[in-house]
Amino acid sequence: SPPAIIAPSILSADFAELGRACSHTIGQGADWLHVDIMDGHFVPNMTFGAPVVTKIRSHVNPPTEAYGKGTFDCHMMIAEPKRWVQDFKKAGCDLYCFHYEAAVNSTAAVTPSGTSDEKTSPKELIRYIHESGMQAGIAIKPSTSVDVLWEILENPVKEEVPDMVLIMTVEPGFGGQSFMASELPKVTALRKKYPELHIEVDGGLSEKTIDQAADAGANVIVAGSAVFGAADPGEVILKLREAVNA
Ligand code: DX5
Ligand code: ZN
Repeated sequence: SPPAIIAPSILSADFAELGRACSHTIGQGADWLHVDIMDGHFVPNMTFGAPVVTKIRSHVNPPTEAYGKGTFDCHMMIAEPKRWVQDFKKAGCDLYCFHYEAAVNSTAAVTPSGTSDEKTSPKELIRYIHESGMQAGIAIKPSTSVDVLWEILENPVKEEVPDMVLIMTVEPGFGGQSFMASELPKVTALRKKYPELHIEVDGGLSEKTIDQAADAGANVIVAGSAVFGAADPGEVILKLREAVNA
């Protein structure tokens, strides 16, 4: 697997102190910031949108290289993933990770300007994200089979292939849920075929569950409550990193 990338989820930070929480977390050793965007439609919860991302982005230095320190990893738990690509690029998102389920089921809601988000194939959306200048990620929920990803990953057209795959290890929507080890065979199967792919796991990751995820082959580790609930977040970040790189 590629080396560990630790991406604390700021969903568990104090939202009244968000800018400072972001810069502190990077200072404590985090590689990326995992930014959970929820729209109240794709998931039964809401967080914030591009204007807030613009503001918190200014608290973190721009990354110096692709996948560098300070990368804004935006996890788009939204019903219309194509609609927000340009706004998030402008806001400073580096990696736009959409949900497969949202791309294939987009509800074509009418926007204030009267246009609608058409149903988008994942490969078209990945190309569109790349053309905007961001890295592209694709996420699947626990109920979605890993088999939907093979065709997307095997595509010979490079611009249409994701830079990262996110395997959810909880139902998306809330921080602090229990880790679902039942999702790890998806990681194992992906890692077997793709030794260099960035495979992210998200939900319930902590010092207790990291070994299972690392053994399966995950290298991008999201952790919300485990990092922000710790007395010493830096120590948790270090332990997660050591478990993956061991
Ligand atoms: C859940 C989010 C996660 C969440 C993880 O929908 O995608 O990123 O913040 O939180 P923990 O690490 O507490 O499970
Ligand atoms: Zn997330």
